[in-house]
Amino acid sequence: MNFGEQRNLAEEKRQALFLSQLKECIADREEALGRRVTYHITTMGCQMNARDSEKLSGVLAEAGCEETEGEDADILLFNTCTVRENANEKLYGHLGLVKHLKKEKPGMLIGICGCMMQEADEVVRIREKYRFVDLVFGTHNLWKFPELLYACLAEGRRVIDASETPDVCRDSMPVRRKVPFKSGVNIMYGCNNFCTYCIVPYVRGRERSREPGEILREIRRLADDGVKEVMLLGQNVNSYGKTLEQPVSFADLLRRVAEVDGIERVRFMTSHPKDLSDDLIQAIRETPKVCRHLHLPLQSGSSRILKQMNRRYTKESYLALVDRIRTAIPEIGLTTDIIVGFPGETEEDFEETLDVIRRCSFQSAFTFLYSRRTGTPAAAMADQVPPDVMADRMQRLIGLVQELASRAADRDLGKTVPVLVEEKDAHAPGSLTGRLGNNLMVHFPGEESLIGQIVDVELTESRGFYYMGRRRQ
Ligand code: 5AD
Ligand code: SF4
Repeated sequence: MNFGEQRNLAEEKRQALFLSQLKECIADREEALGRRVTYHITTMGCQMNARDSEKLSGVLAEAGCEETEGEDADILLFNTCTVRENANEKLYGHLGLVKHLKKEKPGMLIGICGCMMQEADEVVRIREKYRFVDLVFGTHNLWKFPELLYACLAEGRRVIDASETPDVCRDSMPVRRKVPFKSGVNIMYGCNNFCTYCIVPYVRGRERSREPGEILREIRRLADDGVKEVMLLGQNVNSYGKTLEQPVSFADLLRRVAEVDGIERVRFMTSHPKDLSDDLIQAIRETPKVCRHLHLPLQSGSSRILKQMNRRYTKESYLALVDRIRTAIPEIGLTTDIIVGFPGETEEDFEETLDVIRRCSFQSAFTFLYSRRTGTPAAAMADQVPPDVMADRMQRLIGLVQELASRAADRDLGKTVPVLVEEKDAHAPGSLTGRLGNNLMVHFPGEESLIGQIVDVELTESRGFYYMGRRRQ
């Protein structure tokens, strides 16, 4: 065992000890209250945050707390996102309401964590102006949650831990999954790409890959626990494994993950167009368990804007990549992210984006108005696009995306495809909602007992972004 591993193990034991003390502390509270101690986690942002919240939830459940639907809980946590500037303001607005909630519930503990708490200015603002917030920690300190919560509850202290520690034992934290048969799995943390509009590299730090053996052990455990679908998570999975002592490519990791018995579907997110290898295309093609879905953020179709964004690909190389993918795997569903109104974006640049969208027939696109994120290079760029121009472009973009998405969905109409049944259809009693390999949803009549299973469904009607169907046996 090397020094790093020894330190991880020692820290893992220390946190386990805090967790057992936390259990006693929660039991005492339960007795004093004459009921279970409740918690609620409000999660903002991406899949990584969703996964982190499952870890926070794991700690709280293990400590003996009970999850509630609403924010009126004894322990209320906000796992924040800071990608867009107005996300911060929204949180502060919301905290005003929470303050009233706490007035009516004096013993309430309020905590804020996540990416926003990696920003020194925000921590200072909370420390000084939001004194009713009891606990603050950033994404890097997530693994310390048992210790920090214990200090807060048992010692009645306000705890603000914004220290910059490497995440030592985050992967051994207890986890409580939102869905029993699906799980995210972090394969790497951080980002080295520094797209000029994006705050993530500053708050999530440099790229770190987990050892493949450790990832596979986690996935085997998940399979034993009934998980059928895993989503491998990283800001750019294509650069997975490059800095490991014994480098491993993402394509090889994917092949090995697909070999795990019990895992029936493998997904991953996100893949940067600058370095998606032919070997990865090959790995998807030859591995049936890997879902036929690729999220490939375009951001802009103008090579000039892409350069300003520091994306390191051009319109032409993106189109060529999509061509290679579609030739190798014709049935694949492509989705993307687009930013409208990056500084200096002209009408011609925007037309280039529309052009790429027409030529790639995306199944869906997440569209974002450019947000002038403080702390990023783009925030200081000249020629910020006026809001009315942005709004007009956004409307045109959404119109086109919807039209093309609907056409892309029509392509598979009438086919019978395997579907993972995820939940009851909220809008139609007696109906279920399932997810296709390409990530589209289908609603179809069926028994609740099918939830968590993969069944064959015929796609009988397309509604643009989703299907109606019937089960085939
Ligand atoms: N403004 C608008 N959208 C942004 N994204 C990241 N930073 C910004 C920003 N400053 C979008 C990108 C990314 C997605 C997760 O969020 O499209 O792919
Ligand atoms: Fe942000 Fe670019 Fe890294 Fe994605 S790849 S997290 S957009 S810097």
